[in-house]
Amino acid sequence: MLFYFTGTGNSLYIAKQIEEHPISIPQAIHRDSLSFTADQIGIVAPIYGHEAPPIVKEFIKKADFNTDYFYLILTYGNRHGGAAELAKRMCEDYGIKVNYINVIRMVDNWLPSFDMAEQTQLDKNVEGQLSSILADIKDRKQMISPVTEADRAAHREFLERKSRLPTDAWQHLLQIKENCTGCSICAKVCPSASIRLVNGKAAYFPGNCQTCLACVHACPHKAIGLTIPEKNPNARYRNAHISLREIIQANQQI
Ligand SMILES: Cc1cc2nc3c(=O)[nH]c(=O)nc-3n(C[C@H](O)[C@H](O)[C@H](O)COP(=O)(O)O)c2cc1C
Repeated sequence: MLFYFTGTGNSLYIAKQIEEHPISIPQAIHRDSLSFTADQIGIVAPIYGHEAPPIVKEFIKKADFNTDYFYLILTYGNRHGGAAELAKRMCEDYGIKVNYINVIRMVDNWLPSFDMAEQTQLDKNVEGQLSSILADIKDRKQMISPVTEADRAAHREFLERKSRLPTDAWQHLLQIKENCTGCSICAKVCPSASIRLVNGKAAYFPGNCQTCLACVHACPHKAIGLTIPEKNPNARYRNAHISLREIIQANQQI
């Protein structure tokens, strides 16, 4: 049994290499019962600010996993900042024994820092990293991916910068532009129903936004941008193995 969360398809691609039919967290989280029993249970999700996204943390906190082998695979782009160690601590805080946590470096979809045209040209050896992760899971390896002092320092520095921002800063990250045609793709790819059509145009309802950027990357007209500068406002990203339809199936709420 494998759960996943994705904004732009990296984590779904990895999840699909592990199991044919992984389960979407934004959909599973609404089930009446969150008690799951299986021989092995895994979660694949992106790293946001060196940690699991809020909806993934909420799912892990609420769910009851009955398994002998619980694992996490965290996809990231440039700097994991000790995410494996932080995720282990989170699981322990929620009373979950975690057997294996690994990170996998892929395209970084964080638009303020990265140009998607450049990112897609880099060879991050995703297939090589993936094949060793697949072998580890098959062997039920017990491992938490190693973390260095530099990773911990990067996370401390990140937290320090974050503490200087208003607590709801990320809820004001998105802006919908004049050229919105009301096609509703943004609303369909949003995992938290934070974008809905109002009078035939996309409207943003902050509060529960995951900042996954699914809407920004999926808009065919580039009509959703950020309220902070982007490296390249004309470049958008979706994992090459994943279709728009799959992102919609993964996240659709309305
Ligand atoms: C809000 C946000 C925060 C991110 N934070 C980090 C980070 O701290 N370190 C990193 O290396 N990548 C970071 N990324 C990049 C993603 O982790 C990476 O591109 C991931 O593979 C995207 O997965 P997805 O395609 O399944 O959404 C961030 C992306 C977003 C949208």
